[in-house]
Amino acid sequence: MKTGFTFGRSICSFLVSTIVVFSYLVLANSGHLGKDTIRVRDRKQKVNCNMYQGSWIFDNSYPLYDSSSCPFIRKEFNCLKYGRPDKSYLKYRWQPMNCNLPRFDAKDFLRRYKGKKIMFIGDSVSLNQYESFICLLHAAVPHSTITVQLNDSYSSMIFNDYGVSLMLFSSHYLVDIKNEKIGRVLKLDSLKNGDLWKEMDVLVFNTWLWWYRRGPKQPWDYVQDGNQTLKDIDRMVAFRKGLTTWAKWVDATVNPSKTKVIFQGISPSHYNGMEWNETGVTNCGKETKPLSGSLYYAGLPKASYVLKDVLSGMRKPVHLLDITTLSQLRKDAHPSSFNGFKGMDCTHWCVAGLPDIWNQLLYAFLIS
Ligand SMILES: *[C@@H]1O[C@H](CO)[C@@H](O)[C@H](O)[C@H]1NC(C)=O
Ligand SMILES: *[C@@H]1O[C@H](CO)[C@@H](O)[C@H](O)[C@H]1NC(C)=O
Ligand SMILES: *[C@@H]1O[C@H](CO)[C@@H](O)[C@H](O)[C@H]1NC(C)=O
Repeated sequence: MKTGFTFGRSICSFLVSTIVVFSYLVLANSGHLGKDTIRVRDRKQKVNCNMYQGSWIFDNSYPLYDSSSCPFIRKEFNCLKYGRPDKSYLKYRWQPMNCNLPRFDAKDFLRRYKGKKIMFIGDSVSLNQYESFICLLHAAVPHSTITVQLNDSYSSMIFNDYGVSLMLFSSHYLVDIKNEKIGRVLKLDSLKNGDLWKEMDVLVFNTWLWWYRRGPKQPWDYVQDGNQTLKDIDRMVAFRKGLTTWAKWVDATVNPSKTKVIFQGISPSHYNGMEWNETGVTNCGKETKPLSGSLYYAGLPKASYVLKDVLSGMRKPVHLLDITTLSQLRKDAHPSSFNGFKGMDCTHWCVAGLPDIWNQLLYAFLIS
């Protein structure tokens, strides 16, 4: 068994180095301009590389860890454990158009962020990314002791040997929901949880999933907009107002010399095949491959434009972790029915899987 495994791997690395040498030869032989082109591309990469424009490449050296050895994955995301038979979804690497993404180096991260606190704030998509981040770190230092702290509003995992804290603060809307006499009120212009947030060294925000929830799943009864309390409101307008309240909080409160602020772009779902030009498909259940190329048939969701617009009006620096398009291409990366509750989930993402790449992009930003 063991020999077979080693043998397989060495064939692999032989193939990889052959491909690398081969493509180098192609570049070197593509005329006089070959070398100059490479140099220009290198310079461009430092000055002006958009890490978020690119495409998915099959790469046998992925995934970055074995999900069965990460004890922190919820049943909702633990696709292999719940029987997902195809595994190629684990083996794609994001290749930006004009540069290379650094590989996630967990030990390097733990050293650089010694003594620091990193907090993810948002809905279950934040949880998705948080668990992936913890698995990425845990895989590199499996014997490091981890202290887990939980309370109603947040959980934290402290990698004791490095003093690095990863925290998750659950907030569906970022703005507040308050229990009042008339019922639960979503307050579009109130944000009261920030006292804890502003103490962090890195903040990774996200909100979107809940803004269109209606019926029994909607966690509020009224929405307060300025001095008006309403039964409902145009949801995209509400999203913009909530984000604007958040943006004002950042501008007024965050100290950019201490705290880096990141906003995770809209995470797409895959329930409508028309969006990827497969009319009639109503979920991600049969998807085993990413879309090729860099463009998504349906374009960006409207919420992405609202988010970009709000961010562009801010005074303090906020990095947009712009994962929308690259995730739209990953119709294969959702749990679908391979999760612990048996429902069809084309909203969240398998761990290991796509959120690891989000964290690779986050890492690239945090070390830059
Ligand atoms: C959670 O812990 C923090 C810090 O220890 C504390 O300020 C906060 O009140 C706690 N929240 C709950 C709901 O217990
Ligand atoms: C609500 O606010 C608007 C403008 O902010 C103001 O003109 C209006 O008088 C207020 N209405 C009430 C009932 O306070
Ligand atoms: C969409 O699908 C149809 C039918 O398979 C195909 O003919 C067409 O070229 C596709 N369009 C794009 C933009 O991929």
